[in-house]
Amino acid sequence: MSADIPMIPFIDLKAQQARIRPQIDEAIRKVLDSGQYIMGPEVAELETELAKYSGAKYALACSSGTSALVLAMMVLGLKPNDAVFVPSFTFIATAEAVLLAGGVPVVVDVEEGSFNMDPEDLKKAIIDAKNDGLNPKIVVPVDLFGCPADYAAITEIAKENNMYVVDDGCQSFGASLEGKMVGSLADITATSFFPAKPLGCYGDGGALFTDNPEYLELMKSFRVHGMGTDRYENVRIGINGRLDTMQAAILLIKMSILAEEMQLREKIAVRYREGIKNVSHQVIPETVHSAWAQFSFLLPGDGKIRGKVQADLKAKGIPTMIYYPIPIHRQEAYAKYASKRAFPVSDMLAERIVSVPMHPYLEEKTQSYIIEAVNEAIEKA
Ligand SMILES: Cc1ncc(COP(=O)(O)O)c(C=O)c1O
Repeated sequence: MSADIPMIPFIDLKAQQARIRPQIDEAIRKVLDSGQYIMGPEVAELETELAKYSGAKYALACSSGTSALVLAMMVLGLKPNDAVFVPSFTFIATAEAVLLAGGVPVVVDVEEGSFNMDPEDLKKAIIDAKNDGLNPKIVVPVDLFGCPADYAAITEIAKENNMYVVDDGCQSFGASLEGKMVGSLADITATSFFPAKPLGCYGDGGALFTDNPEYLELMKSFRVHGMGTDRYENVRIGINGRLDTMQAAILLIKMSILAEEMQLREKIAVRYREGIKNVSHQVIPETVHSAWAQFSFLLPGDGKIRGKVQADLKAKGIPTMIYYPIPIHRQEAYAKYASKRAFPVSDMLAERIVSVPMHPYLEEKTQSYIIEAVNEAIEKA
């Protein structure tokens, strides 16, 4: 990179912070003054706002997306031979949560177009799991890069097999499918407020969504060490899964600009999709508004040009990321849960995928610069 070309931020959290800094300072000051650092009033306020935004009856804040997934599994109750179906092309926490909650993750391949769980492969995985003596219990579609999975097809398969659907919406809070927001597409939804997410705090955070009041009560209990009517009466094995008050206060402010930020992300995605040529873009169904947590596409060919393209872009001050270089079935600690099956689409995606900067404050001239540089890099490679 030449010295006069500064690196473009991959996700520009500073630009967002500059916009809301006075409100953030005030909210943090309020929490500091109150001294209620854990379960202060902002947590309940945030839960009300999250439920409103998502259309779910109930929302419960928790300590991370991973803890949200673990809590969802704890609520549904996993026995040692219960199978939980997860896509192979996802962040590791989707499968990790299943094992932490005592179940068996069963890996399912994804679709070449949407990059999300393939309902046809799910059917095959259920048959295989049954043949292996497992009890199909939960399916966990992931809304990759912010695009909701095929809930109509997956829910139908889940119903036929008496299974629950848990949405790993850790990348998709703010997205919608057929007019329904993420949070209201599954029995339980888990999301993450990791700083780089579409709705991110300034630390770790997450939330759970459901319409079921019994699940809500169980979530509340599991979130605080399996508490009963009193915090020091423990009726089940839980975790410390609370969101702290400061993060809730920050999220409340960020929620006030989330809808606008979603529109800004969508506008940028449309430009990228029109401008970046000779790649395979993620297929977004017409009924979906993606949250565009990431902007990722498949490079042409077998992925061999990826290193060159990344180096070329880096030289022009454009950072890139690979989400994800190693699918679940190739991760050392998880390979045994997929040993008998093949996952050709996930393998192909892992070789060819690349992500470029995406955040609501990416200026038009920077978008044009990135589009041109990507096209040039691919042509040259
Ligand atoms: C698909 C998916 N699931 C789960 C998680 C875990 O969320 P957290 O980092 O908040 O624990 C993430 C976060 O990166 C994710 O992208």
